[in-house]
Amino acid sequence: MTASSPMPPPGAVPAGSAPAPGATAPLAGEAAMPGSTSGPLLRVEDLKVYFPIREGLIRERHVGDVRAVDGISFEMRRGETLGLVGESGCGKSTTGRAIVRLYEPTAGRIVFDGVDTMTLDRAGMKGMRRRMQMVFQDPYASLDPRMTAGGIVSEPMDIHGVGSRADRQDRVRELLATVGLNPDYAERYPHEFSGGQRQRIGVARALALEPDLIVADEPISALDVSIQAQIINLLEKLQERLGLTYLFIAHDLSVVRHISDRIAVMYLGRIVELASSRLLNREPLHPYTVALLSAVPIPDPVVEARRRRIILTGDVPSPVNPPSGCRFHTRCWLRDKLGNPQECVTVDPVPREVLPGHEVACHFAEKVIESPERAQAVGVPVPTTASVGGPVVPPTHPQDAPPIA
Ligand SMILES: Nc1ncnc2c1ncn2[C@@H]1O[C@H](COP(=O)(O)OP(=O)(O)OP(=O)(O)O)[C@@H](O)[C@H]1O
Ligand code: SF4
Ligand SMILES: [Mg+2]
Repeated sequence: MTASSPMPPPGAVPAGSAPAPGATAPLAGEAAMPGSTSGPLLRVEDLKVYFPIREGLIRERHVGDVRAVDGISFEMRRGETLGLVGESGCGKSTTGRAIVRLYEPTAGRIVFDGVDTMTLDRAGMKGMRRRMQMVFQDPYASLDPRMTAGGIVSEPMDIHGVGSRADRQDRVRELLATVGLNPDYAERYPHEFSGGQRQRIGVARALALEPDLIVADEPISALDVSIQAQIINLLEKLQERLGLTYLFIAHDLSVVRHISDRIAVMYLGRIVELASSRLLNREPLHPYTVALLSAVPIPDPVVEARRRRIILTGDVPSPVNPPSGCRFHTRCWLRDKLGNPQECVTVDPVPREVLPGHEVACHFAEKVIESPERAQAVGVPVPTTASVGGPVVPPTHPQDAPPIA
């Protein structure tokens, strides 16, 4: 059984797409014109990315799909960092790659700066792609070892025919300096750089075309802990200086929570919770987020001693055949606690705004608020009977831990 990628070559046009670029009709709160500074920069609507599974050597048959991303919707505000977290295989990279159209969406809409990118032709998408760039996880694998650092950084400008050769060389030096590298290193090859320096080259390359949105797919996961903070600091400074918007992908909540304004938690192709970073860390409302948070250490031995980690039982189900109803039901601690309500198995929970700006896809999110599991995960005292029913807001909160240094 093989799963094939829907990845088109860069610049490919989706089958059946409209020939001309087109701005979408403005929705409430959205910019009417591309390039406007109001309204969300990006709106993802019911995005699906399926990888077809084919069988048979002589006559290939389509026997199913890996539903890597299976109907997610969210918006990104200009200048914000949206963290995207979840276990390995939940669809984070596929989401990021579909947004910049390295993968072709199966269904849904990706509206960038008021323009439905699904309607763009090849030329339109090429222009749009300049404004969305990616930084990849592995700075060893993502840089071509045969090219110099200068060549790597210059390549996007070469492809898009930006400026003269001399202009591009000047710009490369400027970009290397911007990411904290010596401009004279432009002639060096990737193997002559450390991991952190390589990731800086990756960031410089992503900046070359002056994008608005950067999809950073686990940009620090492959780096030493001591270097991770440097790259995070660099990204934060660049955001401030250049007004960038980041989709920051990580599998670890502790990584994204300090850099993100808001966080979306993914499970098996779906977003199960979306809230401000502060709310999500202090008041998680989805049982899966509670489990993820329970695994993040709190740098306070007293608090740490009273915490109990929630170990999710069972394997992550296959995205080829996700569970019925709520996809998390096969591993949900809350469902067990509630006596296995049938609704969890039969009804797919739709994301709903349980608190202002706090969306959760769980039928019983309100039960999480009063649970000792949540209190333990965020490191606050377990609620007494008197406090049950209301949100637990302690005066000082151990989850407000300092960022990684
Ligand atoms: N090109 C492909 N062809 C077939 N299946 C794919 C392809 N790319 C990803 N998948 C599958 O889609 C699902 C989501 O993968 P994805 O890489 O988006 O997950 P992820 O959340 O980024 O995981 P990780 O944390 O390991 O990077 C997985 O089941 C993966 O095996
Ligand atoms: S809907 Fe049911 S199974 Fe899903 S997260 Fe909520 S309690 Fe758990
Ligand atoms: Mg990934």
